Amino acid sequence: MKKALTAALAGAMVLATAALAHQGVQNVAVMARMDGMSAIGANMKTLGAMAKGQIAFDAGQANEAVAEEAARIPSLFEAQETDPKSEALPVIWSEFDRFIAIADDLEAAATATAGALNGPEDLGPALKAIGGQCSACHKAYRE
Ligand code: HEC
Repeated sequence: MKKALTAALAGAMVLATAALAHQGVQNVAVMARMDGMSAIGANMKTLGAMAKGQIAFDAGQANEAVAEEAARIPSLFEAQETDPKSEALPVIWSEFDRFIAIADDLEAAATATAGALNGPEDLGPALKAIGGQCSACHKAYRE
């Protein structure tokens, strides 16, 4: 009960932070893109908290967290939309194939992991494989 409450509170805080970061975004496509990324970020946080033992390992929740969202990245960035609040670098659209290749790598890592998380000991390697793709893309394509 206490754990569930803590998890719920942590989730609410993640949402509040995301909402704050998105204040003043005018372009709805950019907003959707940020929301999609925030959802991926929230899933990674859940997995991280499980890996650290801050919340109880739940196989269903863990496997769902990795399977979700990754496939959505290409469609979120298809149109070159900008907003003063966006952190997306314009170079995304001049080398879109490379950008998509990293999104595909993320999806492959997530697909390989989804359904294979059977205990907390599986989380570390999964977070490493998936997290590597997050930072690869952010380093090249995010402010
Ligand atoms: C193929 C590229 C790519 C991959 C892979 C990727 N991201 Fe992102 N991410 C971006 C870009 C570009 C932005 C900036 C979007 C904007 O501000 O318009 C972003 C923004 C974000 C944000 C900030 C969203 C906000 O509120 O403004 C979070 C959180 C985030 N990413 C988490 C992740 C996590 C976690 C992963 C891995 C599971 C990941 N991303 C994988 C490209 C990527």
